[in-house]
Amino acid sequence: MGSDAISRLKALLAEARDLRETLPNADRLQLIGLTEALQHELERPDEAVFRLTFNQPGHYLAIRLAIQWGVFEALGDVGESKKTTTQLAESAQADPRLVARFLRHLAANGTIREVDLDTYQSTRLSASLRQKSFKDAIHFMFDDFYNVGWKVPSFLDTISHRNPAEIENGPFQYAYNMPNKSLYTYFGENSGMAQRFGGMIQMYNAGKPFFWEDDWFPIKERLVEGGPKSDEDVLLIDIGGGDAGDLGILRKALGPEVKGRLILQELKHIVDRADQDGYEAQVGDWYEEQPVKGARAYMLQHILHDYSSDDECRRILKNIIPAMTPGYSKLLIKELLIPDRNAPWALTSLDVNVMQSLSGQERTESQFRNLLESVGFKIDGMWSHKDAIDVVIEASLAKGIDFGLSTSLNAGNDDQL
Ligand SMILES: C[S@@+](CC[C@H](N)C(=O)[O-])C[C@H]1O[C@@H](n2cnc3c(N)ncnc32)[C@H](O)[C@@H]1O
Repeated sequence: MGSDAISRLKALLAEARDLRETLPNADRLQLIGLTEALQHELERPDEAVFRLTFNQPGHYLAIRLAIQWGVFEALGDVGESKKTTTQLAESAQADPRLVARFLRHLAANGTIREVDLDTYQSTRLSASLRQKSFKDAIHFMFDDFYNVGWKVPSFLDTISHRNPAEIENGPFQYAYNMPNKSLYTYFGENSGMAQRFGGMIQMYNAGKPFFWEDDWFPIKERLVEGGPKSDEDVLLIDIGGGDAGDLGILRKALGPEVKGRLILQELKHIVDRADQDGYEAQVGDWYEEQPVKGARAYMLQHILHDYSSDDECRRILKNIIPAMTPGYSKLLIKELLIPDRNAPWALTSLDVNVMQSLSGQERTESQFRNLLESVGFKIDGMWSHKDAIDVVIEASLAKGIDFGLSTSLNAGNDDQL
């Protein structure tokens, strides 16, 4: 029985590369979920605790050190070259006995491949860990953020285990001992940390579609048609759009025939380094009334999740409303949507992360509906994509000119929620 299960799994493992290339994404993710469930079923609780407490932190430490030692750079592309421990330690300028220990731990976790005695080759993961955004993500979560996680229990003691709600006085400020200062203000003063954070966001977005791509938000139908008639009009304002340069890519995707400006509104340190290729960048503050009136769309991507307090979200939304032209302007929200039941770890881990960094919170569909309706918006549609974990929510002023739109208008879009 046991050996039969082993041979069946070995056969499946031999097929894994083909499955990765050929399976639809949803099936691929389901297969990963099933292998995780299999591990949970097979593993004894003591083994699980041992893995959590010893293996995972040690693995993360090994990756962090290997980046610093240039191990992944030296190993190069997948299977490109074999390197001995001595060679890797030499280029790391570190003690070979020390480096050997971490190389073994990396190999034990599949991050690099042990191909001979004290000899290693790269894997897809180790080769990818040469990308700047992946390195930034590892450094941010290890160097800048580990200490925040350690302090969460004692921080929660100080607020009697209420849900953290103050963006300027949460676990991050507690760990860094700097009350009344938002993470974003701190980034303005610490450009290294801000860049590592920006890289981490790029890592998170890697391999995921842009919201305007096929089978997601139908931007031509929803924004371009009936939208700007001249190049002076504004098609879209991305409020707190970050520094990934998405608007430049959107401009190219829309093509020259589509009219209307694209505007990034951000904090000064982000505007200062924006390339403004195909879009404009201007300093903006979502705590102030929106200065650009009558845009076709005002977008908030991963902004409302910075706030667990609905009152704070309402403050931001109410600052946009006076700028909106009823019956024309739209609000676009791109966020994770936590399902009411069986939320996957990709969503729950981000929920925990925004709590630590910003006292934020990911929301369920009904939480979004209640929030938006409480300030006078109606939801005109929600769009998801099979390869993304975000949804795009389109809303308009409930008391504006009624286009007769309703969520049923989008019937026929299979991915619509
Ligand atoms: C969670 S990040 C989201 C970035 C981007 N929208 C995305 O989805 O990748 C929040 C962004 O809001 C910006 N930000 C913070 N406070 C702001 C404010 N008061 N007004 C405008 N932007 C702000 C930050 O600089 C940061 O880039």
